[in-house]
Amino acid sequence: MFESVAIAEFDRPHALVLGRFQDGDLEPQLKAMKKVDPAMLEAIRAAAKRAEGSGESGKIAEAFPPSGNGNPERVIIVGLGKREKFKVSDFRTVGATLARRLSTTKDTRIQLNLASIAAEAELDIAHAGRCIGEAFGMLTWDNQQFKGKGTDAKPRPKLELSADRKPFLKGLQHGLDLAAGVNLARTLSETPPNIATPKFMADKAKKLAKDVGLEFSIIEGKDLEKEKLTGHINVGKASENKPCMIRLAYTPENVKKNKSKPIVLIGKTMTYDTGGLSLKINNGMVGMKRDKDGGCAVIGAMHAIATIIKPSRPVVAYLCAAENSISDEAYRPDDILTYRNGVTVEITNTDAEGRLVLADAFCYACDKDDPHYIVELSTLTGGVVTALGSTYCGMFCDDDALRAKVEAAAETSGERVWRLPLHNEYREMMKSPVADILNSNPNRKAHAGQGAAFLSYFVKDGVSWCHLDIAGVHAVESDSGMFVKGPTGWGTRILADLLSGE
Ligand code: BES
Ligand code: MN
Ligand code: ZN
Repeated sequence: MFESVAIAEFDRPHALVLGRFQDGDLEPQLKAMKKVDPAMLEAIRAAAKRAEGSGESGKIAEAFPPSGNGNPERVIIVGLGKREKFKVSDFRTVGATLARRLSTTKDTRIQLNLASIAAEAELDIAHAGRCIGEAFGMLTWDNQQFKGKGTDAKPRPKLELSADRKPFLKGLQHGLDLAAGVNLARTLSETPPNIATPKFMADKAKKLAKDVGLEFSIIEGKDLEKEKLTGHINVGKASENKPCMIRLAYTPENVKKNKSKPIVLIGKTMTYDTGGLSLKINNGMVGMKRDKDGGCAVIGAMHAIATIIKPSRPVVAYLCAAENSISDEAYRPDDILTYRNGVTVEITNTDAEGRLVLADAFCYACDKDDPHYIVELSTLTGGVVTALGSTYCGMFCDDDALRAKVEAAAETSGERVWRLPLHNEYREMMKSPVADILNSNPNRKAHAGQGAAFLSYFVKDGVSWCHLDIAGVHAVESDSGMFVKGPTGWGTRILADLLSGE
């Protein structure tokens, strides 16, 4: 939508933005404005009297003050709805409404005077700014990167933003910075599977590490065998795009003794999921380039962690990268795999592949990193989409303290989670007659819970962990709010907020 959005200083904005509650009055805001042209005030009052100036949520009214006297060319009054119902997170939708409107104008210098109305409603000004920044930042992204010579390129404006209060501006910058991480995740998600191979993902992770100062390493080829990462080896076997486990690490400058255990992030990075020999049918395969979105979100989060969050604990990230394909070398239903931790798995369905690669990372991290806790993101099951749609991410976490942290981060970031149950009965359901466990019970029960129950066999006793099944929330089907049709980058913001408390 925009080529770029940045904070800048300028004398005269092209557009001035004011907010209005449906049950509120513009006058206090107008009175607070110093040295303004009375003709401009008159134009604003006239606009506010029009139907669309009522302050109804999502409505926009515009005034065009006479030119000269330092007047902006346009004043936008954006509706905030009823004050009582308005939450600070609603500034995300407000920001999206504004950005979408501005993208249709030639205005590039925008003065956002929304802090005073946020303060008047007793909302956190910095957080209001952050939400607006996220919306503008996320709407800079579009899914046009693969348009070629056959399409006329649309010119995209470079927006400059300013605001009426310092804390709001600070929040605005934070929101823009977070969006940069989210947009990195979305760009990777959008990259098609003929380009975005496991190696490509590793190269992108390596580049990020170099750019922002993270440690990068990769386990591939013979080393996968040496480290007994059997899930990667088997799921990736059929593809000529070879599997790898990618590791990124952030280390704070001065690690305090009581904060030396790292937080481990794990992301499913299936660059394509055909289902394997248990091939997906009909159109079930379309869109499976996005089966890497857990890993994409983790990359986005590592970007934010290294550039703006800078937690005082170390953070280690693992991307489990493979392509689930078919060939005579493919792993098959009836195969039995032996994991690094000694657990054996009977394959009943090669389309339940995500858990197989994730299990490697859980084992490996528990062995090598002594994790403070583990948070793992994956587009793991269609079942979670049936259960929660695209409104909530399915969260499996039985550690009360960790769950409280994840829920707090969900609240701050607006990335909603809903708790789903881990129960011993689900673990029992995963038992195999011929191995320890199977990768999918064909009884068709509790698919999302089966995934979580499977993973639990690979977490060392005493290590807290949280599994986030993002299959319902990683993409949207149409433009809405601060999202455009395509990947949402879900996970980058909640992880960034989770880590900002560490
Ligand atoms: N990647 C899919 C899950 C998925 C479905 C992601 C829809 C995004 C949208 C996963 O690997 C898968 O195939 N899951 C199966 C598991 C089943 C075979 C036990 C599913 O959910 O149908
Ligand atoms: Mn699958
Ligand atoms: Zn998958």
